[in-house]
Amino acid sequence: NRTSLWGGRFSGGPAEALARLSVSVQFDWRLAPYDLAGSRAHARVLAHAGLLDAEELGKMLAALDDLEAACASGAFRPTVEDEDVHTALERGLLERLGTLGGKLRAGRSRNDQVATDLRLYLRDHARGVALRLVELADALVEQAERHVETPAPGMTHVQHAQPVTFGHWLLAHVQPLLRDLERLRDWDARAAVSPLGSGALAGSSLPLDPVQVAKELGFATAAPNSMDAVADRDFVAEFLFVTAMIGVHLSRLGEEVVMWTSQEFGWVELDDAFATGSSIMPQKKNADIAELARGKSGRLIGGLMTVLTMLKGLPLTYDRDMQEDKEPAFDAVDQLQLVLPALAGMISTMTVRADRLAAAAPVGYTLATEVADWLVRKGVPFREAHEITGKLVALCVARDCALDEVSDEDLAAISDHLDPDVRSVLSVKSALAARTTYGSTGPGPVADQLAAAADKLITW
Ligand code: ARG
Repeated sequence: NRTSLWGGRFSGGPAEALARLSVSVQFDWRLAPYDLAGSRAHARVLAHAGLLDAEELGKMLAALDDLEAACASGAFRPTVEDEDVHTALERGLLERLGTLGGKLRAGRSRNDQVATDLRLYLRDHARGVALRLVELADALVEQAERHVETPAPGMTHVQHAQPVTFGHWLLAHVQPLLRDLERLRDWDARAAVSPLGSGALAGSSLPLDPVQVAKELGFATAAPNSMDAVADRDFVAEFLFVTAMIGVHLSRLGEEVVMWTSQEFGWVELDDAFATGSSIMPQKKNADIAELARGKSGRLIGGLMTVLTMLKGLPLTYDRDMQEDKEPAFDAVDQLQLVLPALAGMISTMTVRADRLAAAAPVGYTLATEVADWLVRKGVPFREAHEITGKLVALCVARDCALDEVSDEDLAAISDHLDPDVRSVLSVKSALAARTTYGSTGPGPVADQLAAAADKLITW
């Protein structure tokens, strides 16, 4: 006696193989609170339409409340006989109300229900993900505050390039997170459209009020086209793009922490509570959180590909393929809720070795650009300045010495333009202090950037 929503025209129950393929309640059960919220709004609209009298509405709402409490406590659980969350909850309602429970399905279909439930679920959980993102961004901002003036060897191609402040570097990981937060906000505005009232695909002949239902469920508006409403999964794909993008950002941060904590860099030491050991090598201290953050990006990107590929070429309107939208969406939420707090804890407790960063900052002739810029300020065309400085670097490489260790005579031999004054720009501190323009790595603009980032984060 499988509970089913569609037995009437069939001579027998579904084959076991079909039932096993079709069942989704093992993963869509988490939509139950949202389905129940939709049911309450739908019951009210049925009463308003004269399809439930006041007494019936009272009983219906009380039964929905009771069912919600039973779901929350675990007293009501879906069984293997329930095809999906909607089927299970109708069974729960029938158990409480008898035949009256069967009235709630009027004017409603699982097609508009499931699209509504998933929107509600994702809007709710997007807020949770955003708050976890803010915590990670806050952790990075707090570390950056300590290192507004700490020099570090900025890199391109993982080669020492130009000195930067480590605060600027850390904030370069905050900016992508700020964009992700904006993406979630933008996404929410587009996701705030209610499909409920669209029925299976054609709307309803009953005098429902989709706009009122939308408001009651916290949506900005109801869907303007019932066919699109049940066929549209843009909101899932777009959500998964945002979570994939977050995954990519976390993977780049994770990769850098892996490098920074290596013996070769030694820039950062992780707190014991946020590092792992080895089962055989007693000395090991590994950055597993950073690696898992890097690794999780694969499944987040995969989730986006799963849903886009599933949707491609699907004819309007609802197709059962679309049941495959939920697991990637839930998984994206679950993975981010796991990885973000761990990363935030790891970042906020790590110790930055400012001494080692500062020592590394000038290594690899990172001040060569300062020489070229100094020549430019003296009127030398940059093309020539680049050439002259290149010769100076080549000499230093050959002699295994620093830029400021070249004698006055050797400087003059390279170019008439190179007088001993050039040494005034050959310090990391002066190179950083000289970077005062908006968005630059100097302590001044970095302090401004810190304040602006903190202002943005406070709005969440
Ligand atoms: N479990 C289905 C899903 O997740 C619900 C909608 C089923 N509708 C249908 N007509 N079979 O997509």
